[in-house]
Amino acid sequence: MKSWLAIVLLIGGVRCDGFSDQVFKTLYIGEGNACYRTFNKTHEFGCQATKENENGLIVRIDKQEDFENLESCWRALYPAFNGKFWALLPVNLIGRNTISLLKSSECLAGVILYNSPQPQHPEEEITSASHDADCPNAASDYYFQNKKEEYCERKINSGGSITRDGLMRTDWRIQMVFIDKSDDLSVIERCHSLFNIPKENGTTGYPYCGMSFRLANMAAGNSEICNRRGKSEAKLFQANFDSGEVPQICGAMHSDNIFAFPTPIPSSRSNETMNSSKYMMITSRMDSFGMIPEISVGEVSVLTSIISVIAAARSMGTQLEKWQKASNESNKNVFFAFFNGESLDYIGSGAAAYQMGKDIFPQRKIRPDIVRIHPIHANEIDYVLEVQQIGVSKGRKYYVHVDGERYDKNKTSTNKLMDRIERGLRSHGFDLEKLTDSGTRVPPASWHSFAKADPTVQSLLIAPFKEEYEYRRINSILDKNQWTNDEKEKAIQEIEAVATSILAASADYVGLETDDVVAKVDKALIATLFDCLIVSNFWFDCDFMKKLDGDRYHKLFNSYGFNEKSTYISMETHTAFPTVLHWLTIFALGSDKETLNVKSETSCSHLGEFQAMYTYTWQPSPYTGNFSCLKSSIGKKVMVSPAVDPYTPEEEMNTRYSTWMESVYVIESVNLYLMEDTSFEYTMLIIAVLSALLSMFAVGRCSESTFIVDEGEPAAEGGEPL
Ligand SMILES: *[C@@H]1O[C@H](CO)[C@@H](O)[C@H](O)[C@H]1NC(C)=O
Ligand SMILES: *[C@@H]1O[C@H](CO)[C@@H](O)[C@H](O)[C@H]1NC(C)=O
Ligand SMILES: *[C@@H]1O[C@H](CO)[C@@H](O)[C@H](O)[C@H]1NC(C)=O
Ligand SMILES: *[C@@H]1O[C@H](CO)[C@@H](O)[C@H](O)[C@H]1NC(C)=O
Ligand SMILES: *[C@@H]1O[C@H](CO)[C@@H](O)[C@H](O)[C@H]1NC(C)=O
Ligand SMILES: *[C@@H]1O[C@H](CO)[C@@H](O)[C@H](O)[C@H]1NC(C)=O
Ligand SMILES: *[C@@H]1O[C@H](CO)[C@@H](O)[C@H](O)[C@H]1NC(C)=O
Repeated sequence: MKSWLAIVLLIGGVRCDGFSDQVFKTLYIGEGNACYRTFNKTHEFGCQATKENENGLIVRIDKQEDFENLESCWRALYPAFNGKFWALLPVNLIGRNTISLLKSSECLAGVILYNSPQPQHPEEEITSASHDADCPNAASDYYFQNKKEEYCERKINSGGSITRDGLMRTDWRIQMVFIDKSDDLSVIERCHSLFNIPKENGTTGYPYCGMSFRLANMAAGNSEICNRRGKSEAKLFQANFDSGEVPQICGAMHSDNIFAFPTPIPSSRSNETMNSSKYMMITSRMDSFGMIPEISVGEVSVLTSIISVIAAARSMGTQLEKWQKASNESNKNVFFAFFNGESLDYIGSGAAAYQMGKDIFPQRKIRPDIVRIHPIHANEIDYVLEVQQIGVSKGRKYYVHVDGERYDKNKTSTNKLMDRIERGLRSHGFDLEKLTDSGTRVPPASWHSFAKADPTVQSLLIAPFKEEYEYRRINSILDKNQWTNDEKEKAIQEIEAVATSILAASADYVGLETDDVVAKVDKALIATLFDCLIVSNFWFDCDFMKKLDGDRYHKLFNSYGFNEKSTYISMETHTAFPTVLHWLTIFALGSDKETLNVKSETSCSHLGEFQAMYTYTWQPSPYTGNFSCLKSSIGKKVMVSPAVDPYTPEEEMNTRYSTWMESVYVIESVNLYLMEDTSFEYTMLIIAVLSALLSMFAVGRCSESTFIVDEGEPAAEGGEPL
């Protein structure tokens, strides 16, 4: 599909430039840096180019008062102009009081977003800036789906959300493009200041600096339509293309999830039945999003929590024998699960819960004689221990969230685990409040997926919030901070405290005496990971990560082309983060004790043949850079929500699971051009004629009808992508 898109883009780029004589600067916009369409089962969200929102005069919105111009359509400043505007807007000005103006404006073509000039600090009391909803994942909530609660009854993110349904779930009329490169931004700023800044007498005349941008989506409507159309489209193209490369118009959001089993995983030949074991699943989500989905790193939404889990895993990895012995005796195991797509109605955990019901989690049946990890069922999971939003606690206080009803049925063991968690936190100077009233409900967490699958799975959610999120930038472009040394030190302490709690609870669960060795967390590692994953501009910028990489990422993707830090899950697995996390997990839990004599990548990979239990990875140590063959039981697994997975037609569009999909889109470059002193419509006419003429030469591929640019299904049904 990619290569097909590339062809379209190439042709588009070369031939669609209808007004090149006026264009004086073209800025390349990377994939994912503009707003495009996404869908759930019933709605479409995001942006789409139309004739109304492609071209506009560049204006600036630098401060709150400038939004007044949006209401008056800058008429006082540009009396002669009655076209549309592209507003240059720092992301921090998107807020509750401004969003409706942006949404409803009659004269806005779009917004050119850029990073806010004043950096945010993690504990800053800023106004709400979460791009998520009042109730994240409200539609896939366990309590809602099991009719224990109304839709969105507990508004846990209402302090942070900019709009009730969230900016990711908004259908915009305008387009949006994000400018990351400071060079590009200054070109736009200069163009604006040269031509569009009012003269002394308050108005300004032609020529103006104008901008055009166009992102055309292939799909329209909602996931259901998109899915159906996708299938017929695929059939159509299968007939024409022998290559098997079927161009898609939309696709299910999916990505890699990581599962790591440190303790002796109960295993069996595929044809044997096995006695069941019990599990505690330690989990943390991998994904975040923002209004423009793919430019969100999710520092507090994702990364700090992941670091605490990696730190706990690393401690376990240095003491594997102890843990294995205890697990073998108690028949209780812990394993790590990093789920992806959790912020979009639990894509990863929903798929995992589904697979558990089908005996194929974490592995499918391979050959009868091959030993595999024994299938895990939801009813074998005693606890889902999840950590969220670590690093921003107020008053050094944490909370553990359980489901009151389930807790009441089995208090003793849960109380013991909570006591361990409390001790772990206390040992680092943090407090824990246990929320265990019988009416207590679990906030949005992966637990919901497993709760739907089995009535006994318990939750242990460790987080610094009680009834409402304190951090007001969950799932936001602004979840990206400037950390002072003090803030960083406190966050590192919190991560360490939480990692200690995870270890203490896990040890208690498997029946291991919690001593200083077992619950010892490597603080230096946490500090390093904090610098590498959060402070650094890219995943592989710091020495530790460069060594861990050992030039592998480069080989994997040919270049550091995917060099943006993003934790968004899209329809193509093209972000580096799953790879980064996979390697970190192997570093944490992999062992070369049995493979010290293995000296090459080839012999290392041979070890993995004919068995499914262990993986052998030729990976460098992040400390020395020396490669060795690491044995582990870690899988990186693509999870597709059963509701949109073509291989599970019986669950199609079942809203028990996530129905999120994404449109394939064609993104054009940003063009800056001069609007001449003829009337705007006249210029536009010339452009239109020129563009039409040129598209004829371009084998008709760039004309408007090429793309599905309309809003509804009937027209979408009529369109043809090629
Ligand atoms: C899709 O999103 C809309 C808007 O947030 C929501 O009202 C609706 O319930 C969602 N549908 C599903 C199936 O999740
Ligand atoms: C404003 O000044 C410009 C030149 O600086 C002039 O061309 C224009 O006529 C003036 N407009 C008014 C309304 O005075
Ligand atoms: C399974 O359980 C039964 C009874 O509890 C026991 O006799 C048997 O040895 C167990 N098998 C394995 C493989 O652990
Ligand atoms: C687990 O314990 C049994 C005996 O209790 C032993 O035979 C087996 O080797 C042990 N397995 C591991 C992985 O330690
Ligand atoms: C499972 O398959 C293996 C190899 O084919 C065979 O040796 C073994 O007897 C089978 N076990 C059962 C329980 O069928
Ligand atoms: C309570 O939980 C423990 C550990 O999770 C489990 O072994 C036990 O069977 C549970 N008891 C009941 C009554 O569910
Ligand atoms: C790493 O490899 C180099 C060269 O093979 C070797 O000299 C060095 O001792 C190794 N370092 C460690 C810590 O094993």
